Amino acid sequence: MTKNMMLAENRFLLGTFSSNCSSGMSVTKVEERWQNTWENNLSLGRLLDDAGIDFMLPIARWIGYGGDTDFHGGVLETMTWAAGLLASTKQISVFATIHTAANHPVVVAKQIATIDQIGNGRAGLNIVAGWNKPEYEALGLTLPDDHETRYAYAQEWFDVVRKLWASKEYFDSDGKYFQLKGVHGDPLPLRGDVPIINAAGSPQGREFATDNANFLFTPAIDLARSTEEIAELKTQASAKNRKVDVLTFSHVICRPTEEEALAYLEHTAKTNADWEAVDNLVRLQFAHAHSFPHELLALIRDRMAMGHGGFPLIGTPDQVAEGILSLHRAGFAGTTLSFVDYVREFPYFRDTVLPKLDAAGIR
Ligand SMILES: Cc1cc2nc3c(=O)[nH]c(=O)nc-3n(C[C@H](O)[C@H](O)[C@H](O)COP(=O)(O)O)c2cc1C
Repeated sequence: MTKNMMLAENRFLLGTFSSNCSSGMSVTKVEERWQNTWENNLSLGRLLDDAGIDFMLPIARWIGYGGDTDFHGGVLETMTWAAGLLASTKQISVFATIHTAANHPVVVAKQIATIDQIGNGRAGLNIVAGWNKPEYEALGLTLPDDHETRYAYAQEWFDVVRKLWASKEYFDSDGKYFQLKGVHGDPLPLRGDVPIINAAGSPQGREFATDNANFLFTPAIDLARSTEEIAELKTQASAKNRKVDVLTFSHVICRPTEEEALAYLEHTAKTNADWEAVDNLVRLQFAHAHSFPHELLALIRDRMAMGHGGFPLIGTPDQVAEGILSLHRAGFAGTTLSFVDYVREFPYFRDTVLPKLDAAGIR
């Protein structure tokens, strides 16, 4: 079995986020915005794998956000995307992102066990309990208004998955949402389970995450605030005898000079931002989820355009490395990275920033 990079200790984890989605994380109209073809994803997966990057995380999305680009209107389905990448890489962990309401737990348990075999122990699961109401309507589903119901459903869903992974015995399950007769899990994931990610913001979601996940994702808006938030989450988890690490997501524009990086930020995320899509994204996030602190709306609108609300890593290799070190100091266990064009821009990051992180001893 290959080691799962997400299980590495004492290493600041680096991954990519959203390369399966049209425009990646940049809500921009520029010509070179990310084309989420399989070919591009495969090139990226191999580049990341060879560079020792730890994981790839996709977004599960069923309808776009409108605007001129219909941001995230084109999305590669994440389970099949992960299967293809795991078959084509050697070391990197690859996650599938799954909406509990749209995917039956017996099917998902088997899919994850299958891709874990394909990747020889490198699969992961990002659980989404749901927030995007129009998307639920598009699928003919009803998003419960209250978070209690959303997470009660997600808990029962994950209990079924975990039970299927716990043994090959046949069992019945008579829950509120799932009544199952004589089911069993075979195959099981190679280690019995896989790393679990959850990105809840609400109190109910954070209970769910600290009960079930290995990694909780949260935006890094203000690092002093993040340090407190991380400490609270870790305390909440350890009170349940669990360990949860906190990850965040960042957007990279790395150039030889700061002027070049800032000019490209202005070009992609101001002058050519798809503002209609940005406003739809912000409106939906604030209507249905608690992931982003509501009082920080103005700052968040700009950051949404840049990198879907990610932490800005904009500047020279030294500045980008320092930004990553500041996330490490704040207590994050890792971050995802996104680029306007992942395949074109990652090699410069690899060659100039990764050695600085190695030298700083965080990788
Ligand atoms: C790193 C990260 C990944 C996410 N992935 C997805 C996703 O793929 N699909 C989705 O619908 N929502 C995704 N979300 C949104 C969260 O799942 C959403 O904010 C959460 O369900 C809201 O829960 P809350 O109301 O408890 O804050 C992601 C959020 C973050 C920060």
